[in-house]
Amino acid sequence: MPLDEARIPVLDRGFIFGDGVYEVIPCYSRKPFRLKEHLRRLQSNLDNIFLKNPYPDVQWAGLFAQLVTQNEGEDQHIYLHITRGAAKRDHAFPKQAQPTVFMMSMPLQATSPEILRTGVVAISAQDNRWLRCDIKAISLLPNVLLRQLAVDRGAAETVLLRDGFLTEGAASNIFVVKNGVLLAPPKSNLILPGITYDVVLELARAHAIPHEVRAVSETEVRTAQELWMTSSGKEVLAITTLDKRPVGDGKPGKLFWRMYDLYQAYKAAVIRQSEAQPI
Ligand code: PDD
Repeated sequence: MPLDEARIPVLDRGFIFGDGVYEVIPCYSRKPFRLKEHLRRLQSNLDNIFLKNPYPDVQWAGLFAQLVTQNEGEDQHIYLHITRGAAKRDHAFPKQAQPTVFMMSMPLQATSPEILRTGVVAISAQDNRWLRCDIKAISLLPNVLLRQLAVDRGAAETVLLRDGFLTEGAASNIFVVKNGVLLAPPKSNLILPGITYDVVLELARAHAIPHEVRAVSETEVRTAQELWMTSSGKEVLAITTLDKRPVGDGKPGKLFWRMYDLYQAYKAAVIRQSEAQPI
């Protein structure tokens, strides 16, 4: 149905408590990218909030196919949102409630060649979110406030630091290049296990790019040769200014361009493969 005709009851626990989880799935040539991984993360998020998955994977896949077929554009991203449903307002789980499922698909805007070439500006801030940042929860107020900090200062992203270490971005994962080595904070309760993060590390492994998954200190972030942000919407993007100082020489670095090319080649291969088979 048209987006502005979709309705939820005001007592929906997503609206009242932010009690739900979500996914953002990029679709290239109308095929969901890393579908299995997104559905696996969705299941793990639902398990984490003790909510039964309303559909088996094959049914999700069918719904996604229907959605992207009926929406504009070869490249889209699906936003999928599941809440604990509508019930009398009470913090504890309701005994009986049907989960609310909402899905929409929007055209996927590729990063402009100009932004790719210059990289983006970021600021840093203390990570003041809760201690379950591994859950892709719809209650995003801390991320919203942290991201707005960046926008208010004309920046594209806020790089988050907790207790002197890098966690992630307000809406992305962050990679650091230091002495030619790609550094990534390990998955933990403090960061979202990004699907793009996994792709980048898989590509680094497959192409023998020196990399380490370990705690990354604030000093390493501030003296990095390169900084990257990754997310399903932005793919891999260089951060070339942090807190008004240039990162490295202030241009996207050599390793960034290598990863960018590898990512595009991988994506093209996945699209070719998925075109050869039904969803
Ligand atoms: N956000 N960390 C946070 C806090 C995020 O919000 C996101 C993505 C990521 C990257 O995850 P992935 O590579 O799976 O997209 C990391 C999405 C896109 C959003 O909220 O719109």
